[in-house]
Amino acid sequence: MEISEDRDLYTAELVLEGNLPSNTFSPNAIKSVPRWHFEMLNDHNRNISFANAINSLDLTDKIVLDIGTGTGLLAMIAAKNNAKHVYTVEVNPYIAKTAQQIIKDNKLQDKITVINKLSTDLIPGVDLPKNIDILISETVDCGFFGEGFVPALQHAKQELLAPDAILLPCAVKLTAALLSSDDVRNLNYVATSLDFDVSLFNIFSTQGYFPVRLNSWETSLVSDEVIFYQRDFVKPDSFDENSRIDFTATQDATVDGIVFWFELDLVESQPPVTNNPAHKKNHWMQSVQIFEHAQTVSKGERFSVNYKTGTLTIDFSPANMLKHN
Ligand SMILES: C[S@@+](CC[C@H](N)C(=O)[O-])C[C@H]1O[C@@H](n2cnc3c(N)ncnc32)[C@H](O)[C@@H]1O
Repeated sequence: MEISEDRDLYTAELVLEGNLPSNTFSPNAIKSVPRWHFEMLNDHNRNISFANAINSLDLTDKIVLDIGTGTGLLAMIAAKNNAKHVYTVEVNPYIAKTAQQIIKDNKLQDKITVINKLSTDLIPGVDLPKNIDILISETVDCGFFGEGFVPALQHAKQELLAPDAILLPCAVKLTAALLSSDDVRNLNYVATSLDFDVSLFNIFSTQGYFPVRLNSWETSLVSDEVIFYQRDFVKPDSFDENSRIDFTATQDATVDGIVFWFELDLVESQPPVTNNPAHKKNHWMQSVQIFEHAQTVSKGERFSVNYKTGTLTIDFSPANMLKHN
């Protein structure tokens, strides 16, 4: 399916921008594309993990759906691995248009159809065939939930895929530890600046998790590491969970929040992709949620944290708010 011409802003923007080269979008269009795409595309471990996983599948005569086109990288890997046809869906029109050209530049346009839509708006039998054989998607952020993988997967399973479709990725596991770090607290809370009380500004603090490269700051993990959430995507289980993580403090410490990371299984036979803190060059940073009030713990003490998942979020709060700092 062609991207419709009225959404092709090349022409409209050339009029506005006058002397820009013919393949350049407006500043607003460029702003709509997050810069992390570059870091992600240069993350060799990520790319090779997805390539190895896709290439481990027999795609002969298979129709593939790739949710979240980006440059078309995963769609092109699948096309080169003999997929009968790949439908790839991208919500951002500028990215979709550019991917279409990249796919042409790589001479794969006959094997790949780019669709400029949100995947949950796809109409089976109209935008793409019914009962797709294989789903590929890399739409996870550092905290797994934030980019919308879960609703996209749930919709695809319900509306777009054959009942026995292969899912890539196929499972996720989340691990967390308690975090002690003034530096990371200072990324989201303030008390005074130059003796002025500016603490009212904390009304703008991020309430949920946010990405932090742990090794850029002075940080200590002050508990055991607990695997607290696991899902096999093939199973019909709900992604919702309202539960508690029981950590054991490994030292006397101030607890500023929680750090967590994912292990994402692409295919069963290969090691997962992960943003655990040991992977220092990963484009996915770790996920951190800083508690409004720091807590103190003693070595060996139990420290419990409640968490609640939604389809787009996971939120944490200390279960035992007894000893504020
Ligand atoms: C993390 S990037 C990955 C791009 C590419 N698949 C790769 O691995 O290099 C995800 C892309 O998917 C798009 N996207 C995310 N969720 C989507 C959805 N449900 N439907 C269509 N596009 C989506 C985003 O705009 C972004 O360009």
